[in-house]
Amino acid sequence: MGYGPPAGHPGLRRAIASHLNASRGIKCDPDQIFVTGGAQQAFSLIGRVLLNPGDGVWYENPGATGARNALIAAGADLVPVNVGAEGLDVEEGRAKAPHFRLAFVTPSHQQPLGHVMSLARRLELLEAANAAQALIIEDDYDGEFYYGDRPMPPLKSIDTEDRVLYVGTFSKTMFPSLRLGFVLVPRSLVTAFDRLFASWISTPPTATQASVAEFMDEGLFATHIRIMRRLYKARYQTLMEESPALPESIKVQPTTSGFHTTALLDGRVDVQLLINQARSAGVTIVPISRYALSPLGYNGLVLGFGSTGPDEIRAGIRVLREMPALRV
Ligand SMILES: Cc1ncc(COP(=O)(O)O)c(C=O)c1O
Repeated sequence: MGYGPPAGHPGLRRAIASHLNASRGIKCDPDQIFVTGGAQQAFSLIGRVLLNPGDGVWYENPGATGARNALIAAGADLVPVNVGAEGLDVEEGRAKAPHFRLAFVTPSHQQPLGHVMSLARRLELLEAANAAQALIIEDDYDGEFYYGDRPMPPLKSIDTEDRVLYVGTFSKTMFPSLRLGFVLVPRSLVTAFDRLFASWISTPPTATQASVAEFMDEGLFATHIRIMRRLYKARYQTLMEESPALPESIKVQPTTSGFHTTALLDGRVDVQLLINQARSAGVTIVPISRYALSPLGYNGLVLGFGSTGPDEIRAGIRVLREMPALRV
């Protein structure tokens, strides 16, 4: 009933290390895993350990808002780097900020565009980090949920120079109110993270950590992920089957992983008008521009399907289909 070890419950650190090896092809030791209150806390702590005010951080544009705020709060000078179908444009990053300290990426399923970073781009990014002596945050927030035959190897699994901090969360694999995540740090940073974690005792509740460890050790976590993968895939398929009913001005984009995709909009669509009309019909829609760090030159909507059953997906498409703003 005492305080748990600051870096996390040893059983959970072992279970996570073993799961990463079996499921994501990542070889690591439990002492490299630091348990956090969700991925968001991991981003803040990484910023505190690694960044000095004004350090250049390549950041996906558009990109995740939570990590963005955490890194800005830690003093980052965010450098927006555009994302294409293959992932972060490494050439653009090199041109804008060759001496970057850190890069933040979501290679398994880009937040918000839903692209999966190509292998060539992954290797290019690792090479750029090596050349600049920089580090990479790989946010693998929904990497377990891929719908093709085989997932791409995580950056961490091909990180021969140990430059990647891999951040995982149980918010997507289990549920967000667990407030449980972790960061796997390069061996060279274990001491720095140990010192930081030892400086306060505020880990997620040890009882919660122990329960999740047991769930993993018994093989139930892996089974749960297999079941949920099938369920999310079916929801995604429903969305793709229904989307041809939408007007020509909106094109739902395919994805191969995660819980959301995007729909690109014809440039003539007034996005704010569309948001207002959808809100009046009881539907909240999120524009891609909400995730932009600098102008994108296109716009669209983020379409979530993870927490939406097939009937709700069909109803949502019916509502969207009738939006006057889409008739251009
Ligand atoms: C890009 C991204 N990473 C990670 C997370 C998970 O954050 P947390 O583990 O703090 O719930 C989210 C949550 O939606 C997210 O959008």
